[in-house]
Amino acid sequence: MNIAVLRETAPNETRVALVPDTVAKLTKAGMTVKIERGAGERAAYPDDLYVKAGATVADRSQILSDADLVVTVGRPDDAVLSALPKKAALLGLLAPLGDPRYVQRLAEAGITALSMDAIPRITRAQAMDALSSQSNIAGYKAVLLAASELPKFFPMLTTAAGTIRPAKVLILGAGVAGLQAIATARRLGAVVSAYDTRAVVKEQVQSLGASFLEFDLGADAEGAGGYAKELTPEQIQKQRQFMVDHIGASDVVITTALVPGRPAPLLITEEAVAAMGPGSVIVDLAAEAGGNCALTVADQTVVTKNGVHIIGKTNLAATMPAHASQLYSRNVQALLEALIKDGALALDPADEIARGTTIVRAGVAS
Ligand code: NAI
Repeated sequence: MNIAVLRETAPNETRVALVPDTVAKLTKAGMTVKIERGAGERAAYPDDLYVKAGATVADRSQILSDADLVVTVGRPDDAVLSALPKKAALLGLLAPLGDPRYVQRLAEAGITALSMDAIPRITRAQAMDALSSQSNIAGYKAVLLAASELPKFFPMLTTAAGTIRPAKVLILGAGVAGLQAIATARRLGAVVSAYDTRAVVKEQVQSLGASFLEFDLGADAEGAGGYAKELTPEQIQKQRQFMVDHIGASDVVITTALVPGRPAPLLITEEAVAAMGPGSVIVDLAAEAGGNCALTVADQTVVTKNGVHIIGKTNLAATMPAHASQLYSRNVQALLEALIKDGALALDPADEIARGTTIVRAGVAS
């Protein structure tokens, strides 16, 4: 089986789908791995490491022509889709949810498409869960961005020149990214509180040394697969009001709230931003899905009239490409170990993982 790894085509994408370690394991298992020249360069994996791991390094057209499986991080551009052999399968974070037109485009290419973000969130698939591995990085990096933007210390300090009070950090959305943000902010010495609509996370938040904000929504918002359900307009309205005072009292707010396939819920209104002190920082990890804050602009830092800095940087995982790629690559390897039988992809519709992950099968959308 010929596995091809491309240099990512999206602007600002620095990650690479397979790192040399994984390539060595796949070649040992009998696969042929071909890497596009320079594919790992921006993630600190130069071509010679791939050659040592047993891969062939070549130009894109050469590696695509006989590829059985093309592995990417994000969506490849149209030129790549058109150049894929019809028998090939494409595997990447293809974000099919809520975008039927893109799925149609994949089907028109006549290929088989597997999406890393469509893997079911079951125990057996934990090692394959790229959404978690990349969100973990985003949660960590969000805190570092906030700490470097904030004109204050995070920890409490007792110095000869006086005592510094610790920063107050509020995390909205305590899923994978939020829990990592809590842990990182705590390590830096901040006083941390968090909120999530899923009541089940309260204990996880507290076990990381943060306080959990209690607010009665009238019903638990846990939906299928451990994800959050979308709130009713009344619940959202109540939540925003409840949040204003807590947001106003925080030096840093990090928001991570997402509902799969829906625009991100708006949690921080302009009124709440106006309640924050000058120099406070909001990092909105939901910027790509429309933002959790009314004033977020994707990939920009907005400074409001009252001096609040709102960071809307997207794809934070790509700012730590060496480890982001290493973890993603392990996720891919774990998935391939489950799907490859006798040297070929075996996409058994009776298997929950194969069924969930296959979004297009030989030109037909599933
Ligand atoms: P996500 O990225 O879809 O959402 C982030 C967080 O935002 C979630 O905790 C969600 O409850 C919260 N949220 C949504 N709307 C909100 C609102 N209006 N206000 C406040 N918070 C809101 O979710 P993520 O982080 O990818 O995963 C969520 C959970 O899924 C995990 O905590 C875990 O319990 C479960 N999971 C299970 C896995 C497995 O069993 N293999 C793997 C990964 C996650």
